[in-house]
Amino acid sequence: MTVTASPTSRAAEILSRPVALNGLTVPNRIVMAPMTRMFSPGGVPGEDVRSYYARRAAAGVGLIVTEGTYVGHESAGQSDRVPRFHGEEQLAGWAKVAEAVHEAGGTIVPQLWHIGMVRKQGEPPYADAPAVGPSGIRVDGTEGTGKAMTQRDLDDVVGAFAEAAAAAERIGFDGVELHGAHGYLLDQFLWAGTNRRTDAYGGDPVARTKFAAEIVAAVRAAVSPDFPVIFRYSQWKQEAYGARLAETPQELEAILTPLAAAGVDAFHASTRRYWLPEFEGSDLNLAGWTKKLTGRPTITVGSVGLDGDFLRAFAGKGAPVHGLDNLLDRLERDEFDLVAVGRALLQDPQWAAKVLGDRFEELQPYDGTALKTLS
Ligand SMILES: Cc1cc2nc3c(=O)[nH]c(=O)nc-3n(C[C@H](O)[C@H](O)[C@H](O)COP(=O)(O)O)c2cc1C
Repeated sequence: MTVTASPTSRAAEILSRPVALNGLTVPNRIVMAPMTRMFSPGGVPGEDVRSYYARRAAAGVGLIVTEGTYVGHESAGQSDRVPRFHGEEQLAGWAKVAEAVHEAGGTIVPQLWHIGMVRKQGEPPYADAPAVGPSGIRVDGTEGTGKAMTQRDLDDVVGAFAEAAAAAERIGFDGVELHGAHGYLLDQFLWAGTNRRTDAYGGDPVARTKFAAEIVAAVRAAVSPDFPVIFRYSQWKQEAYGARLAETPQELEAILTPLAAAGVDAFHASTRRYWLPEFEGSDLNLAGWTKKLTGRPTITVGSVGLDGDFLRAFAGKGAPVHGLDNLLDRLERDEFDLVAVGRALLQDPQWAAKVLGDRFEELQPYDGTALKTLS
Protein backbone atom coordinates (compact mmCIF):
# COMPACT_ATOMS: atom_id res chain seq x y z
CA MET A 1 0.00 0.00 0.00
CA THR A 2 1.26 3.48 -0.80
CA VAL A 3 0.11 6.31 1.44
CA THR A 4 -1.30 9.22 -0.52
CA ALA A 5 -1.02 12.62 1.03
CA SER A 6 -3.95 14.79 1.93
CA PRO A 7 -3.89 17.68 -0.58
CA THR A 8 -4.99 20.16 2.08
CA SER A 9 -1.92 20.12 4.26
CA ARG A 10 1.21 22.21 3.68
CA ALA A 11 3.36 19.40 5.08
CA ALA A 12 1.83 16.90 2.66
CA GLU A 13 2.21 19.24 -0.28
CA ILE A 14 5.91 19.88 0.39
CA LEU A 15 6.92 16.43 1.64
CA SER A 16 5.14 14.34 -0.99
CA ARG A 17 7.04 15.66 -4.00
CA PRO A 18 9.18 12.91 -5.60
CA VAL A 19 12.91 13.52 -5.94
CA ALA A 20 15.60 11.93 -8.14
CA LEU A 21 18.84 10.53 -6.74
CA ASN A 22 20.74 9.57 -9.87
CA GLY A 23 18.62 6.80 -11.46
CA LEU A 24 16.32 6.38 -8.46
CA THR A 25 13.11 8.30 -8.00
CA VAL A 26 12.26 8.52 -4.31
CA PRO A 27 8.46 8.88 -4.07
CA ASN A 28 8.56 11.55 -1.35
CA ARG A 29 10.96 13.49 0.88
CA ILE A 30 10.75 11.34 4.01
CA VAL A 31 13.78 9.15 4.77
CA MET A 32 14.16 6.67 7.62
CA ALA A 33 17.52 7.47 9.27
CA PRO A 34 19.93 4.55 9.74
CA MET A 35 19.56 3.12 13.24
CA THR A 36 21.56 0.22 14.66
CA ARG A 37 19.14 -2.22 16.27
CA MET A 38 21.14 -5.40 16.99
CA PHE A 39 18.27 -7.76 16.29
CA SER A 40 20.10 -9.89 13.69
CA PRO A 41 21.73 -12.90 15.43
CA GLY A 42 24.60 -14.29 13.38
CA GLY A 43 24.47 -11.09 11.34
CA VAL A 44 21.38 -12.35 9.50
CA PRO A 45 18.37 -10.01 9.22
CA GLY A 46 15.30 -12.16 9.76
CA GLU A 47 11.57 -11.94 9.38
CA ASP A 48 11.20 -9.45 12.25
CA VAL A 49 13.74 -7.08 10.66
CA ARG A 50 11.92 -7.45 7.34
CA SER A 51 8.53 -6.51 8.74
CA TYR A 52 10.03 -3.68 10.85
CA TYR A 53 11.24 -1.93 7.69
CA ALA A 54 8.25 -2.92 5.52
CA ARG A 55 5.87 -1.46 8.12
CA ARG A 56 7.48 1.94 7.80
CA ALA A 57 7.56 1.79 3.98
CA ALA A 58 3.86 0.85 3.93
CA ALA A 59 3.13 3.89 6.09
CA GLY A 60 4.70 6.24 3.57
CA VAL A 61 8.46 6.50 4.23
CA GLY A 62 9.91 7.27 0.77
CA LEU A 63 13.46 5.99 1.35
CA ILE A 64 14.73 3.66 4.05
CA VAL A 65 18.41 3.79 4.96
CA THR A 66 18.98 0.57 6.86
CA GLU A 67 20.84 0.34 10.13
CA GLY A 68 24.61 0.26 9.66
CA THR A 69 25.59 -3.17 8.26
CA TYR A 70 29.17 -4.43 8.31
CA VAL A 71 31.18 -4.82 5.12
CA GLY A 72 33.22 -8.01 4.64
CA HIS A 73 36.47 -7.15 6.41
CA GLU A 74 37.75 -8.94 9.53
CA SER A 75 37.86 -5.72 11.59
CA ALA A 76 34.66 -4.11 10.25
CA GLY A 77 32.50 -4.76 13.30
CA GLN A 78 32.28 -6.19 16.77
CA SER A 79 28.73 -7.39 17.40
CA ASP A 80 27.29 -10.64 16.09
CA ARG A 81 23.80 -9.10 16.37
CA VAL A 82 24.48 -6.30 13.91
CA PRO A 83 23.52 -7.46 10.42
CA ARG A 84 26.38 -8.17 8.01
CA PHE A 85 26.37 -7.27 4.33
CA HIS A 86 28.37 -10.29 3.23
CA GLY A 87 27.88 -14.05 3.41
CA GLU A 88 25.24 -16.14 1.69
CA GLU A 89 22.72 -16.38 4.51
CA GLN A 90 23.11 -12.73 5.47
CA LEU A 91 22.60 -11.47 1.90
CA ALA A 92 19.62 -13.82 1.42
CA GLY A 93 18.08 -12.21 4.52
CA TRP A 94 18.74 -8.74 3.14
CA ALA A 95 17.26 -9.64 -0.28
CA LYS A 96 13.98 -10.45 1.47
CA VAL A 97 14.10 -7.14 3.34
CA ALA A 98 14.49 -5.22 0.05
CA GLU A 99 11.69 -7.22 -1.56
CA ALA A 100 9.30 -6.56 1.34
CA VAL A 101 10.03 -2.82 1.29
CA HIS A 102 9.41 -2.68 -2.47
CA GLU A 103 6.15 -4.58 -2.09
CA ALA A 104 5.11 -1.96 0.47
CA GLY A 105 5.80 0.85 -2.03
CA GLY A 106 9.10 2.12 -0.60
CA THR A 107 12.74 2.30 -1.66
CA ILE A 108 15.71 1.09 0.40
CA VAL A 109 19.50 1.38 0.59
CA PRO A 110 21.83 -0.41 3.03
CA GLN A 111 24.18 1.70 5.13
CA LEU A 112 27.62 0.12 4.61
CA TRP A 113 29.73 0.34 7.75
CA HIS A 114 33.25 -0.25 9.06
CA ILE A 115 33.69 0.86 12.66
CA GLY A 116 37.51 1.18 12.60
CA MET A 117 39.07 2.21 15.90
CA VAL A 118 35.71 2.26 17.70
CA ARG A 119 36.04 -1.52 17.88
CA LYS A 120 36.68 -2.91 21.34
CA GLN A 121 36.40 -6.56 22.32
CA GLY A 122 34.63 -8.28 19.45
CA GLU A 123 32.26 -11.25 19.36
CA PRO A 124 32.75 -14.03 16.82
CA PRO A 125 33.35 -13.73 13.89
CA TYR A 126 35.20 -10.57 14.92
CA ALA A 127 36.80 -11.88 18.11
CA ASP A 128 40.48 -11.89 17.20
CA ALA A 129 40.90 -9.18 14.58
CA PRO A 130 42.68 -5.95 15.56
CA ALA A 131 40.96 -2.57 15.71
CA VAL A 132 42.28 -0.66 12.71
CA GLY A 133 42.35 3.00 11.76
CA PRO A 134 44.42 5.65 10.06
CA SER A 135 46.91 5.96 12.93
CA GLY A 136 45.82 3.42 15.54
CA ILE A 137 44.35 6.27 17.62
CA ARG A 138 40.89 6.08 19.10
CA VAL A 139 38.36 8.90 18.74
CA ASP A 140 38.81 9.74 22.43
CA GLY A 141 42.52 10.33 21.73
CA THR A 142 43.87 7.12 23.30
CA GLU A 143 46.98 6.18 21.37
CA GLY A 144 48.51 2.85 20.51
CA THR A 145 45.34 0.81 21.11
CA GLY A 146 44.98 -0.39 17.54
CA LYS A 147 46.73 -0.92 14.28
CA ALA A 148 47.61 1.87 11.85
CA MET A 149 46.43 0.58 8.50
CA THR A 150 48.96 -0.54 5.91
CA GLN A 151 48.42 -0.03 2.19
CA ARG A 152 47.27 -3.64 2.05
CA ASP A 153 44.67 -2.98 4.77
CA LEU A 154 43.45 0.11 2.92
CA ASP A 155 43.10 -1.82 -0.34
CA ASP A 156 41.26 -4.66 1.44
CA VAL A 157 38.73 -2.27 2.97
CA VAL A 158 38.21 -0.44 -0.35
CA GLY A 159 37.54 -3.85 -1.90
CA ALA A 160 35.12 -4.81 0.88
CA PHE A 161 33.01 -1.69 0.34
CA ALA A 162 33.01 -2.23 -3.45
CA GLU A 163 31.94 -5.87 -3.02
CA ALA A 164 29.15 -4.91 -0.65
CA ALA A 165 27.87 -2.26 -3.06
CA ALA A 166 27.89 -4.73 -5.95
CA ALA A 167 25.99 -7.19 -3.76
CA ALA A 168 23.44 -4.50 -2.88
CA GLU A 169 22.64 -3.94 -6.54
CA ARG A 170 22.61 -7.68 -7.29
CA ILE A 171 20.13 -8.53 -4.53
CA GLY A 172 17.69 -5.75 -5.37
CA PHE A 173 18.53 -2.68 -3.28
CA ASP A 174 17.97 0.77 -4.79
CA GLY A 175 21.38 2.25 -3.95
CA VAL A 176 23.89 2.32 -1.11
CA GLU A 177 24.79 4.71 1.67
CA LEU A 178 28.44 4.79 2.81
CA HIS A 179 28.80 5.48 6.54
CA GLY A 180 31.37 8.27 6.65
CA ALA A 181 30.02 9.83 9.86
CA HIS A 182 30.12 9.81 13.67
CA GLY A 183 33.76 8.85 14.24
CA TYR A 184 33.76 5.46 12.50
CA LEU A 185 36.49 4.35 10.06
CA LEU A 186 35.93 6.73 7.13
CA ASP A 187 35.42 9.66 9.49
CA GLN A 188 38.59 8.69 11.39
CA PHE A 189 40.46 9.42 8.15
CA LEU A 190 38.57 12.68 7.52
CA TRP A 191 39.25 14.05 11.01
CA ALA A 192 42.69 15.38 11.95
CA GLY A 193 42.15 14.24 15.56
CA THR A 194 42.43 10.58 14.54
CA ASN A 195 44.39 10.87 11.29
CA ARG A 196 48.07 11.65 11.99
CA ARG A 197 49.39 9.93 8.87
CA THR A 198 52.32 11.41 7.04
CA ASP A 199 51.72 9.51 3.79
CA ALA A 200 49.29 10.47 0.98
CA TYR A 201 46.28 9.68 3.25
CA GLY A 202 47.06 12.27 5.92
CA GLY A 203 47.81 15.99 6.15
CA ASP A 204 45.46 18.62 4.75
CA PRO A 205 41.70 18.09 4.33
CA VAL A 206 42.06 16.89 0.73
CA ALA A 207 44.66 14.26 1.71
CA ARG A 208 42.51 13.13 4.63
CA THR A 209 39.63 12.66 2.16
CA LYS A 210 41.70 10.43 -0.15
CA PHE A 211 40.71 7.12 1.48
CA ALA A 212 36.97 7.89 1.49
CA ALA A 213 37.21 9.14 -2.11
CA GLU A 214 38.94 5.89 -3.13
CA ILE A 215 36.10 3.94 -1.56
CA VAL A 216 33.52 6.06 -3.38
CA ALA A 217 35.35 5.57 -6.70
CA ALA A 218 35.62 1.78 -6.19
CA VAL A 219 31.94 1.57 -5.22
CA ARG A 220 30.99 3.69 -8.24
CA ALA A 221 32.97 1.34 -10.52
CA ALA A 222 31.37 -1.75 -8.97
CA VAL A 223 27.75 -0.72 -9.65
CA SER A 224 25.75 0.54 -12.63
CA PRO A 225 26.28 4.21 -13.54
CA ASP A 226 22.72 5.14 -12.51
CA PHE A 227 22.82 3.27 -9.14
CA PRO A 228 22.78 5.93 -6.42
CA VAL A 229 25.70 6.28 -4.03
CA ILE A 230 24.92 8.32 -0.92
CA PHE A 231 27.65 9.50 1.45
CA ARG A 232 26.78 10.20 5.11
CA TYR A 233 29.12 12.43 7.08
CA SER A 234 29.04 14.56 10.22
CA GLN A 235 31.08 17.11 12.05
CA TRP A 236 30.43 15.45 15.45
CA LYS A 237 31.87 12.10 16.57
CA GLN A 238 30.28 9.50 18.79
CA GLU A 239 33.04 9.91 21.35
CA ALA A 240 33.78 13.60 20.71
CA TYR A 241 30.58 15.60 20.35
CA GLY A 242 32.32 18.95 19.97
CA ALA A 243 34.64 17.76 17.17
CA ARG A 244 34.49 19.46 13.79
CA LEU A 245 35.87 18.39 10.43
CA ALA A 246 35.57 21.85 8.98
CA GLU A 247 35.58 25.24 10.70
CA THR A 248 34.76 27.17 7.53
CA PRO A 249 32.82 26.62 4.31
CA GLN A 250 36.17 26.57 2.47
CA GLU A 251 37.42 23.65 4.57
CA LEU A 252 34.13 21.83 4.03
CA GLU A 253 34.39 22.38 0.29
CA ALA A 254 37.91 20.88 0.31
CA ILE A 255 36.47 17.68 1.79
CA LEU A 256 33.26 17.43 -0.22
CA THR A 257 34.62 18.28 -3.67
CA PRO A 258 36.81 15.14 -4.08
CA LEU A 259 33.96 12.97 -2.77
CA ALA A 260 31.52 14.44 -5.29
CA ALA A 261 34.12 14.08 -8.06
CA ALA A 262 34.64 10.41 -7.13
CA GLY A 263 30.96 9.70 -7.72
CA VAL A 264 28.77 10.61 -4.74
CA ASP A 265 25.21 11.21 -6.00
CA ALA A 266 23.76 12.57 -2.74
CA PHE A 267 25.08 13.61 0.65
CA HIS A 268 23.50 12.88 4.02
CA ALA A 269 24.69 15.58 6.41
CA SER A 270 24.25 14.29 9.95
CA THR A 271 23.51 16.88 12.62
CA ARG A 272 21.76 16.63 15.95
CA ARG A 273 19.43 19.63 15.39
CA TYR A 274 18.59 20.51 11.81
CA TRP A 275 17.68 24.14 12.59
CA LEU A 276 21.15 25.18 13.77
CA PRO A 277 23.28 27.25 11.37
CA GLU A 278 26.56 25.51 10.54
CA PHE A 279 28.81 28.53 10.00
CA GLU A 280 28.55 32.14 11.13
CA GLY A 281 26.88 34.65 8.86
CA SER A 282 24.33 32.31 7.25
CA ASP A 283 21.21 30.40 8.28
CA LEU A 284 22.17 27.37 6.21
CA ASN A 285 22.51 24.12 8.14
CA LEU A 286 25.12 21.48 7.28
CA ALA A 287 22.92 19.91 4.58
CA GLY A 288 22.25 23.38 3.18
CA TRP A 289 25.96 24.14 2.92
CA THR A 290 26.61 20.71 1.42
CA LYS A 291 24.06 21.31 -1.33
CA LYS A 292 25.38 24.81 -1.98
CA LEU A 293 29.01 23.64 -2.20
CA THR A 294 28.51 20.44 -4.24
CA GLY A 295 25.28 20.98 -6.19
CA ARG A 296 24.26 17.44 -5.16
CA PRO A 297 20.91 16.55 -3.57
CA THR A 298 21.20 16.42 0.22
CA ILE A 299 19.43 14.82 3.16
CA THR A 300 19.10 16.69 6.45
CA VAL A 301 18.57 15.00 9.83
CA GLY A 302 18.46 15.79 13.53
CA SER A 303 15.51 16.13 15.90
CA VAL A 304 12.90 16.23 13.14
CA GLY A 305 9.49 16.23 14.83
CA LEU A 306 11.04 16.13 18.31
CA ASP A 307 12.33 18.66 20.79
CA GLY A 308 15.58 17.40 22.31
CA ASP A 309 18.43 15.74 20.41
CA PHE A 310 19.06 12.02 20.11
CA LEU A 311 21.82 11.87 22.73
CA ARG A 312 18.92 12.02 25.15
CA ALA A 313 17.85 8.63 23.77
CA PHE A 314 21.20 7.09 24.74
CA ALA A 315 20.78 8.63 28.19
CA GLY A 316 17.40 6.87 28.44
CA LYS A 317 15.46 10.12 28.07
CA GLY A 318 12.38 10.89 26.00
CA ALA A 319 11.56 13.93 23.85
CA PRO A 320 8.31 15.83 23.23
CA VAL A 321 6.75 16.39 19.80
CA HIS A 322 7.99 19.47 17.95
CA GLY A 323 6.37 21.23 14.97
CA LEU A 324 7.68 20.99 11.40
CA ASP A 325 7.22 24.61 10.24
CA ASN A 326 10.91 25.53 10.24
CA LEU A 327 11.73 22.31 8.38
CA LEU A 328 9.05 22.93 5.76
CA ASP A 329 10.25 26.52 5.25
CA ARG A 330 13.75 25.23 4.56
CA LEU A 331 12.52 22.52 2.19
CA GLU A 332 10.42 25.08 0.34
CA ARG A 333 13.54 27.23 -0.11
CA ASP A 334 15.35 24.13 -1.50
CA GLU A 335 18.00 24.43 1.22
CA PHE A 336 18.08 20.59 1.12
CA ASP A 337 16.03 17.90 -0.59
CA LEU A 338 15.15 15.12 1.82
CA VAL A 339 14.55 14.78 5.54
CA ALA A 340 15.74 11.81 7.57
CA VAL A 341 13.80 10.90 10.67
CA GLY A 342 15.29 8.75 13.43
CA ARG A 343 13.67 8.42 16.83
CA ALA A 344 10.23 9.65 15.77
CA LEU A 345 10.09 6.73 13.30
CA LEU A 346 11.44 4.29 15.87
CA GLN A 347 8.69 5.32 18.23
CA ASP A 348 5.91 5.28 15.68
CA PRO A 349 5.92 3.20 12.46
CA GLN A 350 2.94 5.33 11.34
CA TRP A 351 4.80 8.65 11.69
CA ALA A 352 4.98 9.31 7.92
CA ALA A 353 1.33 8.43 7.35
CA LYS A 354 0.30 10.81 10.12
CA VAL A 355 2.45 13.67 8.80
CA LEU A 356 1.41 13.15 5.17
CA GLY A 357 -2.21 12.70 6.22
CA ASP A 358 -2.40 15.93 8.26
CA ARG A 359 -2.93 13.94 11.48
CA PHE A 360 -0.45 15.91 13.57
CA GLU A 361 -2.52 15.61 16.73
CA GLU A 362 -1.82 11.85 16.66
CA LEU A 363 2.01 12.22 16.76
CA GLN A 364 3.59 10.68 19.84
CA PRO A 365 6.43 11.94 22.01
CA TYR A 366 9.53 9.74 21.95
CA ASP A 367 9.76 7.70 25.14
CA GLY A 368 12.56 5.21 24.44
CA THR A 369 10.45 2.07 24.75
CA ALA A 370 10.87 1.33 21.02
CA LEU A 371 14.61 0.78 21.55
CA LYS A 372 13.81 -2.52 23.25
CA THR A 373 11.82 -4.11 20.41
CA LEU A 374 11.51 -4.18 16.64
CA SER A 375 7.95 -2.84 16.76
C1 LIG B 1 19.18 3.79 18.37
C2 LIG B 1 19.96 4.59 17.36
C3 LIG B 1 20.86 3.95 16.51
C4 LIG B 1 21.59 4.66 15.55
N1 LIG B 1 22.41 4.00 14.67
C5 LIG B 1 22.98 4.67 13.64
C6 LIG B 1 23.67 3.97 12.59
O1 LIG B 1 23.75 2.72 12.54
N2 LIG B 1 24.23 4.71 11.60
C7 LIG B 1 24.16 6.07 11.58
O2 LIG B 1 24.70 6.71 10.66
N3 LIG B 1 23.49 6.76 12.54
C8 LIG B 1 22.88 6.09 13.55
N4 LIG B 1 22.11 6.78 14.47
C9 LIG B 1 21.88 8.23 14.30
C10 LIG B 1 20.57 8.45 13.51
O3 LIG B 1 20.69 8.01 12.16
C11 LIG B 1 20.17 9.93 13.48
O4 LIG B 1 21.15 10.66 12.80
C12 LIG B 1 19.96 10.49 14.89
O5 LIG B 1 19.13 9.65 15.66
C13 LIG B 1 19.31 11.88 14.84
O6 LIG B 1 18.02 11.80 14.29
P1 LIG B 1 16.71 11.94 15.27
O7 LIG B 1 16.93 13.18 16.07
O8 LIG B 1 15.56 12.06 14.29
O9 LIG B 1 16.65 10.73 16.12
C14 LIG B 1 21.41 6.08 15.46
C15 LIG B 1 20.51 6.73 16.33
C16 LIG B 1 19.79 6.00 17.26
C17 LIG B 1 18.79 6.73 18.14
